[in-house]
Amino acid sequence: MINTPNAVDRYQVVGNPIAQSKSPFIHTLFAAQTGQQLEYGSACPAIDEFKAAAQVFFAAGGKGMNITAPFKLEAFELAQALSARAQFAGAVNTLKLTEDGEIFGDNTDGFGLVYDLSERLNWPLAGANVLVLGAGGAVRGVMQPLLAANPAKVVVANRTLARAENLVALFGGLGNIEAVSFDDLSLAGVDVIINGTSAGLSGGLPPLPANQLSTACRCYDMTYSAGPTVFQAWARREGAAQAVDGLGMLVAQAAESFRLWRGVMPAIEPVLAKVRASLA
Ligand code: ATR
Repeated sequence: MINTPNAVDRYQVVGNPIAQSKSPFIHTLFAAQTGQQLEYGSACPAIDEFKAAAQVFFAAGGKGMNITAPFKLEAFELAQALSARAQFAGAVNTLKLTEDGEIFGDNTDGFGLVYDLSERLNWPLAGANVLVLGAGGAVRGVMQPLLAANPAKVVVANRTLARAENLVALFGGLGNIEAVSFDDLSLAGVDVIINGTSAGLSGGLPPLPANQLSTACRCYDMTYSAGPTVFQAWARREGAAQAVDGLGMLVAQAAESFRLWRGVMPAIEPVLAKVRASLA
């Protein structure tokens, strides 16, 4: 397709698999809410065909793309310029074709997390003791915006300690960050726990100590499901003050992508309510 001045701007989310993605639903709601004319679809290239598919999309006039698993590293490599937060994340979830025809890469996941925690939930992060569970790509993707919120300390607990230590090496210059193994983990004095492991996707839970959670502790799962996640259920059993899933983060990262493309920030909460209802 040739891009013409009158064509509706086209966006898509790309992943493999992609059927589960809420992004077309979310961005279509954002477009209606803000009165923006655009089309937002989805694509599922073969595992080794992301870059070719993205190049075809942009060459045909596509304006922007969201990238989900397993293509965020390839999107990072494909981008011709990168935001600072994408460089820290080492991964790209948003591509934008600039006015100059350059493919610009950004990462809005950390924005989504911090927005959801601080703005929607009003959980104080400045001065807080934060425990992050997991040290994979999802955690690396949010670490710089999380540290920018000025927590007193971020402890990263991971099954494979070396990966947590690697995050300390990458982000130690941005704040007070420490690595621990689950064997050495204590929950005493922790204000906020963020689960960034993928354990819940297969019904599992990181090996957390029992009977240590303060009743003031707030627990956030970066994943979501129709009912409570395994981690949310654990947090409730252990008496957490609040236990929230990552659907708000999903909508907020999408909103920041939309703002990057369209120059207007959509309202997040009405869309979050609709996405929540769609899960039921
Ligand atoms: P993602 O892109 O979702 O971050 P990833 O890079 O494979 O995926 O990272 C998955 C994270 O979940 C890792 O921190 C992993 O721990 P390891 O680094 O030790 O593999 C963590 N994880 C997955 N399943 C887990 C489980 N059952 N218990 C504890 N941690 C788990």
